[in-house]
Amino acid sequence: MECLTEPAEVRRWGQLRRCAGSTVGFVPTMGALHDGHLSLVRAARDACDAVVASVFVNPWQFGPGEDYQAYPRDLDADAAHLAEAGIDLLFAPAPEQLTPADATTTVSVGGLAQHLEGPSRPGHFAGVATIVTKLLAVVGPDRAWFGEKDFQQLAVIRRLVADLALGVAVEAGPTVREADGLAMSSRNAYLTGLQRRQALALSAALFAVAEAWDGDADWARDELTRRLTGAPGLALDYAEVCDERTLECLTGHVSGRARALAAVRVGEDHAPTRLIDNVALPARGDG
Ligand code: PAF
Repeated sequence: MECLTEPAEVRRWGQLRRCAGSTVGFVPTMGALHDGHLSLVRAARDACDAVVASVFVNPWQFGPGEDYQAYPRDLDADAAHLAEAGIDLLFAPAPEQLTPADATTTVSVGGLAQHLEGPSRPGHFAGVATIVTKLLAVVGPDRAWFGEKDFQQLAVIRRLVADLALGVAVEAGPTVREADGLAMSSRNAYLTGLQRRQALALSAALFAVAEAWDGDADWARDELTRRLTGAPGLALDYAEVCDERTLECLTGHVSGRARALAAVRVGEDHAPTRLIDNVALPARGDG
């Protein structure tokens, strides 16, 4: 596995692979890798001739007061995991290598980014969209993988790739969960033992609603809200039922494919951990 930090070198690396007829797969990450990330890397490895992963904790997607400084970082451990997973290139730039100090250009995705996570994390999706656009421009992959755990991010990236004609296939990897159902997340590292147990209420509520789902979006949203509002140690941020493709919030009877999505804060101190999760709600047909 090669490791590069300079965008120009990574661009050249990609050009050489593509000129040689290789397909290039890409998995962007912020590091602190877990099995969720590695499942995306394995999918890229199986599908493409050459695989690039990036590790970059993107300062522009964290708001004031969020956990940019505290975000877990261990590049040596990440590099070891990625080498073992068989990637070809690790791209690990510093912020100043990706963005000139006087940069003024950002990518804003619009409507899709303005509900769910949007109001709770102002500027977050512009930060994600801007950095993902840059990473894709540097690496130039044929296909790029993103996890369904960040379902709204996946939809935002699909939108931006289509709108800006970036010419990369956006691939989704399923959420990887701990044995007890908790969605894997780099932020789980913040949880104390008690908070880790309390956080389980999030996936449990989503599974319960998916299990009982009969197409009634109002019931599903209310039931999710009821379960998460009553869960000890959790503060509910949002609970919604949305169209799986457009992420439009749904009411009434739903016949197509939907998603239940929720965000909670765990821990009652001044620095709670914010966790998100979602599950598929299968099409129930009409009537
Ligand atoms: O999902 C993430 O880890 C980040 O949001 C991403 C896509 C790497 C952009 O910084």
